[in-house]
Amino acid sequence: MSERANTSEMLSTDHLLGIQDLGVADIDLIFRTADGFKEVLSRPIKKVPSLRDITIANLFFENSTRTRISFELAEKRLSADIINFSSSSSSTKKGETLIDTVSNILAMKVDMVVMRHPDPGAAVFLSKHVRACIVNAGDGTHEHPTQALLDAYSIREKLGRVKGVKVVIVGDILHSRVALSNIHCLKKLGAEVMLCGPTTLMPRHVESLGVRVEHDLDKALRWCDVANMLRIQLERQGSDGISNFPSLREYAMLYGLTMERYDRAGKQITIMHPGPINRGVEITSQVADHTNSIILDQVENGVAVRMAVIYLLAARIPRAQ
Ligand code: CP
Repeated sequence: MSERANTSEMLSTDHLLGIQDLGVADIDLIFRTADGFKEVLSRPIKKVPSLRDITIANLFFENSTRTRISFELAEKRLSADIINFSSSSSSTKKGETLIDTVSNILAMKVDMVVMRHPDPGAAVFLSKHVRACIVNAGDGTHEHPTQALLDAYSIREKLGRVKGVKVVIVGDILHSRVALSNIHCLKKLGAEVMLCGPTTLMPRHVESLGVRVEHDLDKALRWCDVANMLRIQLERQGSDGISNFPSLREYAMLYGLTMERYDRAGKQITIMHPGPINRGVEITSQVADHTNSIILDQVENGVAVRMAVIYLLAARIPRAQ
């Protein structure tokens, strides 16, 4: 893991815009590469010189804690040069367009852009208008591909496989990019996927993605091996003028994962959450901190998985010899 990616094993894509861009062989390659980086991250010196000749811009037009820090750490562990940009301190506040902002950054010889943006499709749009490798770090309600990769990687680590595992994704499916990317990733890897939440937070015709829909959380828990609990995206509620449920208290009563509910299922269920957690709403502290919770393993694995994604995409960037 000290040299560049073996060019005989390459990703089939120049960007990571969504899970739909990846084949099963790509995901398998990312996981095997992440396995190697997990070993690197367990060493006293958690760093390899692989990307000394690569410069990466992290552009965050929307709030983030985990994803921003995880990408930055992954890039530093690979010895890339990095610049960090947040919209609150940028010239986009002065009316500059996204393409002009990014083109100006790229003029300073930047090779790769990691971008979080509130608008669905922003990463795809950018990839069509600038000459740089684009990594989608979450675009509105569309996709969050590295989250889905680290989630599937964490299931594989905990249960030894993804194929055939029954995963229920619970909560605000309608506004969740994590849910959509997870559905695509888990289905590609052969998992069975169920969505659980109130009708008002469930996209219409979502069954066409090959998933089951269940509105009763107790039934969903009896069915699943893994429960991935999602946060209510309060910042996106009511954006269409409609309130999606009467109160957080009622939501927590029907869809909050409590210890009582967990015990009632009568089985060992692996608990996941992409963060940030709203304790006492979608999950209680007892469940979030339970021995079957892999929430912090997801965060830890995020660094190795993002190192793998960046490393493999960098191998596709033409370099000066
Ligand atoms: N899981 C996730 O995307 O968290 P952040 O919004 O903190 O990056």
